[in-house]
Amino acid sequence: MNHLQHKTILLTGASKGIGRATALALAGLQTNLGLVARSEAELLSLKAEVEALGSQCEIFAGSVADESLAVRSTAKLLDRFGRIDVLINNAGYGNSKPFEQFTEQEWDELYATNVKGTFLFSKAVAPAMKQAGSGHIIIIASDVAKRTFATGALYCSSKYAQHAFGDAIRKELRPHKVKVSTVYSGLVDSYFHADPQGAASHSWWLQNEDMARSIVFIANQPAHVVIDEFMIHPLEQDY
Ligand SMILES: NC(=O)c1ccc[n+]([C@@H]2O[C@H](COP(=O)([O-])OP(=O)(O)OC[C@H]3O[C@@H](n4cnc5c(N)ncnc54)[C@H](OP(=O)(O)O)[C@@H]3O)[C@@H](O)[C@H]2O)c1
Repeated sequence: MNHLQHKTILLTGASKGIGRATALALAGLQTNLGLVARSEAELLSLKAEVEALGSQCEIFAGSVADESLAVRSTAKLLDRFGRIDVLINNAGYGNSKPFEQFTEQEWDELYATNVKGTFLFSKAVAPAMKQAGSGHIIIIASDVAKRTFATGALYCSSKYAQHAFGDAIRKELRPHKVKVSTVYSGLVDSYFHADPQGAASHSWWLQNEDMARSIVFIANQPAHVVIDEFMIHPLEQDY
């Protein structure tokens, strides 16, 4: 059953990888999509694909670390479609090396995208969702929101922060019937990693489409059902 038909969905990190695959999966369900990323050219070509699949689409080029982008994209979707039903906080990246080698700038930039971006977009959509008495915020964290690895101090701590943020706002938003779901995934063959997407070393990893199918499953539940946490791995990855 398609519970997402004509629903309005704001998706960050839509230009590549998991976000792009999710946008295309949602487009096939006749949704109204707001797509956010920094690469405007990639958003423009994705918008054409989304509209060809029968969904309506607005694109917003810029960084999720910019509060004015969160406010502007939310306002535009509310103006055009009247509501925002789902926010998918997906934009993010990683950086891996011994912790003493990270610069202050690297720390600030990664936290600005992974942590502050999730805060800013959640803050922007929450009032309309609370007023509507429904809505859904989905956070694409990582399994390293629940475990760590050496050289992962910056990335893992940002994902732990997303996990804690999601847990806390879940408690605040549940009385307003707004759902909060956090996704904890293992390795996905996206643009995220040092080796390019499609590299032979990634052959056993999750595909972007596996993630997209999972995210659609989480979003496409009946009104009375919430998937609070969703853990997913390639079968060959130890966890
Ligand atoms: N790949 C994995 O193995 C894996 C595992 C667990 C969790 N994750 C999480 O999954 C999410 C998506 O990553 P991915 O694997 O799909 O990586 P990806 O292929 O590199 O895609 C990342 C997306 O985020 C966007 N983005 C990055 N920084 C941004 C910013 N400041 N403002 C707006 N958009 C920004 C990128 O677009 P632009 O460059 O155009 O801005 C791109 O669309 C991330 O949060 C990541 O931590 C990934």
